[in-house]
Amino acid sequence: MTQLIDGKAIAKEIRKNIKEEVVTLYNEYRLIPGLCVILVGEDPASQIYVRNKERACKEVGIHSTVIRMSEEVTEKELLETIERLNRDDTMHGILVQLPLPGHINEDAVINAIHPSKDVDGFHPINVGMLMTSQANLQPCTPKGIIRLIEETGQNIAGKQAVVIGRSNIVGKPVALMLLQKHATVTIAHSRTKNLAEVAQAADILVVAIGKPDFIDSSFVKEGAIVIDVGTTRVNGSLKGDVKFDEMKEKAGYLTPVPGGVGPMTITMLLDNTLIAAKSSL
Ligand code: GUN
Repeated sequence: MTQLIDGKAIAKEIRKNIKEEVVTLYNEYRLIPGLCVILVGEDPASQIYVRNKERACKEVGIHSTVIRMSEEVTEKELLETIERLNRDDTMHGILVQLPLPGHINEDAVINAIHPSKDVDGFHPINVGMLMTSQANLQPCTPKGIIRLIEETGQNIAGKQAVVIGRSNIVGKPVALMLLQKHATVTIAHSRTKNLAEVAQAADILVVAIGKPDFIDSSFVKEGAIVIDVGTTRVNGSLKGDVKFDEMKEKAGYLTPVPGGVGPMTITMLLDNTLIAAKSSL
């Protein structure tokens, strides 16, 4: 019997704790955690993500502001805005919503955010800190994935973990974090030969490729923990990378889409903003 991992319920519980910590921080230090989100252009998906981030901040008492900039903004103007926020003591977290328009160098923008305010965990300093197990701010989706796996009550140490996908945002960092938890980790990707065979060895399978329904039950070992990071919009509804109906007969634990990894990502952003605020004391 497959047990579904209820990301929505787990995220709700974590947000309750964050809200309590925010109250304590105010009572003890008169400090209100602040997050500034920069949104460039009119991309509809980005607008939804940013609205959800604002709503989540409000729910837990984090002060949030959104700076909306035109699609035509220059890289220089954007970098100057980031510099100003780096110096603003009321803003503990800075997040630039990606993707950015083609004329702006994303790396230059990420590198401009002060590492102590980089609540996405994308700055090379924070990536290096993650590599050496020192990271204060870890990337949100991988951090959420680890929490979901831990919620199953299964020990990560000694398990075979296979991560399908090698992005800087999910695949690479989640592989590092699983390694830190003492799993034996394989990273598979679009050039991997015999992908199904590689995936079948997994006790923990994390799929982050953005191809709806790509992973069917022939890719998994009976009883494996399967984490589906895919969120592709198909005919108006969200689809995961995993064939849910087949998988829920074979996996030991499985995250649904929606309601699995998604709610955890924003929750970990709130957690990182709280961590950044506490670190500023
Ligand atoms: N766009 C899609 N996902 C993300 C994310 O995790 N962080 C940022 N900054 N932009 C995104």
